[in-house]
Amino acid sequence: MQVTASVTSPMQLAVMGNPIGHSRSPLIHQAFAKALGLAVNYVRLEVPLDAFASGVADFFDGGGSGANVTLPFKQQAFALCQELSTRAQVAGAVNTLWRNHGVLCGDNTDGFGLVRDMRINQGWQLAGRRLLILGAGGAVRGILQPLYAAGVTDISVANRTLARAQTLAADMRQHGINIKPLALADIGGEYDLVINAISAGLTGDMPALPNTLLNNASCCYDLVYGKTLTPFTRWAQYQGCREVADGLGMLVEQAAASFEGWTGQRPATIEVIEELRNAT
Ligand code: ATR
Repeated sequence: MQVTASVTSPMQLAVMGNPIGHSRSPLIHQAFAKALGLAVNYVRLEVPLDAFASGVADFFDGGGSGANVTLPFKQQAFALCQELSTRAQVAGAVNTLWRNHGVLCGDNTDGFGLVRDMRINQGWQLAGRRLLILGAGGAVRGILQPLYAAGVTDISVANRTLARAQTLAADMRQHGINIKPLALADIGGEYDLVINAISAGLTGDMPALPNTLLNNASCCYDLVYGKTLTPFTRWAQYQGCREVADGLGMLVEQAAASFEGWTGQRPATIEVIEELRNAT
């Protein structure tokens, strides 16, 4: 999926969403480009809710080289693509678009970004670990395949609505991924890793969880991030787990994977994560 950036004519990149004003993607991608000495123009595009397909066509017809896709368009982007990576197929959602000889291609770098942040940046061992995921929405669909590929094959998914976790499990089975669906109310046992994907946000309360889930070797990751601990990471620390991390590293790592796909160059991420952390 490589498109060459030249110094004279900047590569046109964008993030498409609605709303989009809050997106930190331009900051992240411009920082990557600057560090690599590439000429890149990365903009936010607020696409009308009923005009995603034409927004994508206009962007690429107008010389765009690559686009990220965020809420609420990731599933529409998936449906629009003529070629999809395996991880995008499993996710049923696309966060990275490009055109190859007129063919719209899509990838999903979210789960790759999460795995890279956990394994490389946090230094957590993943393979063979017992994982509990809280939530069974779109974010979870996006991360299961890369986690499985990283050797995390003992995965329980607990959701408020059990039927949604069961549907997810049935869908994943078709891709050779086995997960155990649970109701939130039925969680038990101890886990090496817990990932929170409940979109109650930074201010919402966590649902009540048993205080037997974690031990002093457990590591806990929240897909959201904030200035301070999230309600989930605060709870996890209080439970005496070994380490907690939030989703800022995942945000930068998924961006780096998209950027590498478009430019063929892998950006350094640690400095950008630190820069964003200080600015958060
Ligand atoms: P995302 O793209 O962030 O995954 P989503 O697809 O809307 O968003 O999924 C939201 C997830 O958060 C779901 O697992 C949802 O549980 P339900 O399927 O039962 O709705 C979960 N969630 C949201 N608010 C919650 C709450 N207050 N308590 C428990 N789970 C909650």
